[in-house]
Amino acid sequence: MTKESQKTNTMTAEETARQNSFIELAQTLSAQKSNTLGRPLTYCLTTFGCQMNEKQSEVVAGIMDEIGYHRQDSEDADVVIYNTCTVRENANLKVYGRLGHLHSLKDKNPDMQIVLFGCMMQEPHVVEKIRKTYPFVNLVFGTHNIFKFAELFYEMQQSEQQIVDIWEGTDQIVEDLPTERNYTFKSGVNIMFGCNNFCSYCIVPYVRGRERSREPEAIIKEVKRLAADGVSEVMLLGQNVNSYGKTLENPVTFAQLLEMLEDIEGLKRIRFMTSHPKDLSDELIETMAKSKKICHHLHLPLQSGSSRVLKVMNRRYDKEKYLDLVERIRTAIPDISLTTDIIVGFPGETEEDFQETLDVVAKCEYDTAFTFLYSKRSDTPAAAMENQVPQDVAKERFNRLLALVQNEGRKRSSRFEGSVQEVLVEEESKEKGIFTGRTQYNLLVHFAGDESLLGKYVKVHLDECKGFYYLGTLEENE
Ligand code: SAH
Ligand code: SF4
Ligand code: F3S
Repeated sequence: MTKESQKTNTMTAEETARQNSFIELAQTLSAQKSNTLGRPLTYCLTTFGCQMNEKQSEVVAGIMDEIGYHRQDSEDADVVIYNTCTVRENANLKVYGRLGHLHSLKDKNPDMQIVLFGCMMQEPHVVEKIRKTYPFVNLVFGTHNIFKFAELFYEMQQSEQQIVDIWEGTDQIVEDLPTERNYTFKSGVNIMFGCNNFCSYCIVPYVRGRERSREPEAIIKEVKRLAADGVSEVMLLGQNVNSYGKTLENPVTFAQLLEMLEDIEGLKRIRFMTSHPKDLSDELIETMAKSKKICHHLHLPLQSGSSRVLKVMNRRYDKEKYLDLVERIRTAIPDISLTTDIIVGFPGETEEDFQETLDVVAKCEYDTAFTFLYSKRSDTPAAAMENQVPQDVAKERFNRLLALVQNEGRKRSSRFEGSVQEVLVEEESKEKGIFTGRTQYNLLVHFAGDESLLGKYVKVHLDECKGFYYLGTLEENE
């Protein structure tokens, strides 16, 4: 280990200790408040956006639990927290809409405290709007200083003023903070933060900062700890996992990281997202093909099927390269389940460009494709492009794409009908006695069972494909 990396590690260990001391201070204040009120204190935490946000919310929930607050689903709570997303305009609108509702709750309960953090808060115009229009919000912070939550919360407990703490960036990765996991048997694991790709439509690099990989040792330690704690499935998270490790002092490839994780005892399934097609290596395909634990599911965002549009999007692959990659993957892993993301109505997209997208969808046999209407994000290069596609044209294309995607998806997913698959039982569905499990291909199966199956792997006969999910029957003696 070099001097430099030793320094970083000590710094983060010190920071963890500092934050733990704020948890203790905040605990004392919350215990006093709870005594005065004669009841336990509560919080409600809502997460918008991607799985990286979900993962970071688990840290905030872990700290709130330690401070002495009880989580509840209703927003009629002592503290209401939103972890925000800004990838598309409607993510922002949802938050503003709900702030209006919170205002009326706060009128009834002036002691209620409101906390906003995450990607949306990294945008200066958002913070300005909150300062002006929503002064009743108590605490605002961003994506780079989530590790400071205990400290900021302690400050908020003692302040009447709105507290705003937004960092422009950070090179720190603080390990070992308390977390409250959403599931006992599966977990997300961040392997990197930020993004360096600057796709021209995307705001993520601006709100999440530059790409930083965690040290493989830290990731292995976390996964080992999770496995020892009963977690059998991990989802490795990053905006572009295929470029994992490139910026480490001792570079490691993503495939090498996967191999290091393969031997961890108790770990049964490894998933990851997201894979950028430009960086998906043959080494990774080989590693996936020979692994006993990596699930045969790959999320491979296409964004557009038109090479011309892809170039303006700054995706750094073209239609031919993408199709060739899919072919290589299917040859090496014939049962792979592929899913994708597609944007419709990117500036300058013509009907011919759109036809290219339909063509790729018809060729690639995706199990599922997430389709999005292009959304203009402030300060991204695409927002300044002159030839924005009119909403009605984009919407009409979107509907055509959705029809094709659903049709293809249904055809493709039904390939497992009549087979027996191993599923990880995740939860009881809305219907009592009916449980939901997930195959390695990421397909959901509903079947009759009981609570003792939760978190276990069972064999289920897939009776009928319903499009995005199956109805099945639990196999005997399993
Ligand atoms: N890092 C991932 C994507 C993260 S954002 C990747 O590169 O694939 C998730 C998805 O949101 C993207 O794949 C894209 O399809 C969509 N998206 C991002 N910015 C968007 C925008 N401005 N308008 C519409 N969809 C967008
Ligand atoms: Fe956005 Fe592109 Fe980075 Fe994905 S790779 S987060 S789409 S800039
Ligand atoms: Fe949204 Fe931030 Fe994720 S903008 S999609 S929550 S990285």
